[in-house]
Amino acid sequence: MFFQKPKTLLGLNIGSSYIKIVELKNSGPRYTLQNFGYTILPSDTIVDGTIMDSMAIINAIKNLVENLKIKKKQICTSISGHSVIIKKILMPLMDEDTVENTIYDEAAHHIPYDIFDVNLDFQILGPSLEANDKMDVLLVAVKKDVISDYLEVIEEAGLQPAVVDVDTFALENMYEYNYEDATEEIVTLVDIGSNITNINILKDGISNFNRDITIGSRQITEQLQKQLNLNYQTAEQLKLGVPVEGLKAEETGKLISDASFAYINEIAKTIDFYHTSASGSQVEKIYLAGGGAKLSGIVNAVQEITNISTEIINPFRDLIIPEAKFDLEYIQDIAPLAGVAVGLALRKDRIK
Ligand SMILES: Nc1ncnc2c1ncn2[C@@H]1O[C@H](COP(=O)(O)OP(=O)(O)OP(=O)(O)O)[C@@H](O)[C@H]1O
Ligand SMILES: [Mg+2]
Repeated sequence: MFFQKPKTLLGLNIGSSYIKIVELKNSGPRYTLQNFGYTILPSDTIVDGTIMDSMAIINAIKNLVENLKIKKKQICTSISGHSVIIKKILMPLMDEDTVENTIYDEAAHHIPYDIFDVNLDFQILGPSLEANDKMDVLLVAVKKDVISDYLEVIEEAGLQPAVVDVDTFALENMYEYNYEDATEEIVTLVDIGSNITNINILKDGISNFNRDITIGSRQITEQLQKQLNLNYQTAEQLKLGVPVEGLKAEETGKLISDASFAYINEIAKTIDFYHTSASGSQVEKIYLAGGGAKLSGIVNAVQEITNISTEIINPFRDLIIPEAKFDLEYIQDIAPLAGVAVGLALRKDRIK
């Protein structure tokens, strides 16, 4: 009898500020963390989801792969931002094959781009509550030119993209795997990135409502920079909690919490909107992900403003973490950064 070498899976999340890579080993019912690393991109490498400096990304990926000694080439990656459109639409009741055949015609009414310029995907959510002869379909469109720009840099960096997903669904995939035992019926996943905050409300594990807010953690740095007349680097350090000479912690703490109020308020408004549109449905839990979730005091602030129990998501919750290889304290500290990449690494095994 021959033993098969366990498969490893790679997830690559190219954010506008940080590139994250996760390697998992398929080790029975639970996966084992093999590798996790991230690297910071120079600012303006990616602007509004558009790659401005391909070389910076190629070099960053190459260095990360080399430093982590990753041998595998095939990866799953994802896109987010303006080039991704996610919409819940109503369609007459029909089977999946019929949706497949008609989705391009249908999508033309809902997508602001030429339908030939996008890749489409869909998921039938179930019978609609609004009309009894209709069903809800989640429509996902991603601009082809943006996908090909990302694929090009990944290939130039020596990797082979096998699957291209959307950030918010990768995070959902990570949640599904790690929180199988969760008892809440309705939860909100909030990915606070550098430039974008993705909000995904799940009901019974199915995506019910999606929204992107085009503000993220970078805006806090920019506000500190402006208000305290600092350079970007120093303002960023201050946001990460590194003391800066001549500045009092209480004052800067107040500036940081004022600056974060803008997107926390948007998160609260989005959830309120969901509550009014899906009458009777109440979000029971908010999970924060992304680098922005590491901001000091953010969990309490979100909880206070929304009045909903809030915690930082743990993408490693149901993974095996070999203690000989990882410093557990460090892994827990950087966990919020890994959400999308873990979901991507798990993705390849879970494609239906
Ligand atoms: N300890 C911390 N406190 C506050 N903010 C932090 C901390 N660590 C990282 N960040 C912020 O998190 C952001 C990076 O997070 P993340 O990797 O989730 O974003 P991204 O995926 O690159 O961005 P986007 O999804 O918007 O393209 C940076 O703006 C960084 O300043
Ligand atoms: Mg991100």
